[in-house]
Amino acid sequence: MTGNPKYRRLVVFGRRQGHRLRPQRQALMRDLLPQIGIDLTPDGDPIQPRDLFADGTKEVWLEIGFGAGEHLAWQAARRPDVGFIGCDPFLNGVSALLDQIAIENLSNVRIFPDDARLLMARLGGGGINRLCLLFPDPWPKRRHHKRRMVTRENVARFADIMADGGEFRFATDHPEYGRASLIKLLDEPRFRWLAERPDDWRERPDDWPETRYEGKAREAGRAPMFLRFERLACSRAQANSV
Ligand SMILES: C[S@@+](CC[C@H](N)C(=O)[O-])C[C@H]1O[C@@H](n2cnc3c(N)ncnc32)[C@H](O)[C@@H]1O
Repeated sequence: MTGNPKYRRLVVFGRRQGHRLRPQRQALMRDLLPQIGIDLTPDGDPIQPRDLFADGTKEVWLEIGFGAGEHLAWQAARRPDVGFIGCDPFLNGVSALLDQIAIENLSNVRIFPDDARLLMARLGGGGINRLCLLFPDPWPKRRHHKRRMVTRENVARFADIMADGGEFRFATDHPEYGRASLIKLLDEPRFRWLAERPDDWRERPDDWPETRYEGKAREAGRAPMFLRFERLACSRAQANSV
């Protein structure tokens, strides 16, 4: 899947696999993943997200780093008219999401079991209506900051692949990563922060279920922040001058 030499310089930081998968999960990886997995054929045309889903799919949402997949499965069960793409290289999490897809018979989920940057590099522009990045690894040590998902380069790529009027959702329980990310997101002229009062970033909207990492953060006494941005149809500078 990642054989394209163009992408070989990308390195996934963090674990690819934890404990050995139970036989039932192994069977899902063998039988279900090939049916709904996204394969990046070398040097193919850009992938149009809508083409991955059934006719009549109204929007496509992308979740980067879905962990055990509970947020993605919750959303997919409630929005059968939306196509969901989940990216995560951690194979135990992929198998957990496959389990939920099988139990709930979800037909609107596709999985890229690898580094999201590989997929984003191949997606055509403007096809993602919502992008969720929930509790990405904060890489707290300064020398590891370049491993973070929220970099200026990636923020620009998020804006490239998103549709006009789309929404970017970001959560973290790490205050310094939150502040550093907010600065980069505010600097991207195609994003507009949707917060109007402090509770807008302190409280999670009702259509956004708690993830496993949020639960762990709260147990440890850390208050998460929830950032929502609109992907503007034109740059903010253009919007302000109208
Ligand atoms: C701290 S966990 C959060 C999981 C989940 N979003 C939650 O809130 O419970 C971060 C997740 O990001 C995934 N991840 C790390 N690097 C990634 C990358 N380059 N592309 C996609 N996912 C990545 C990890 O495998 C892990 O599952």
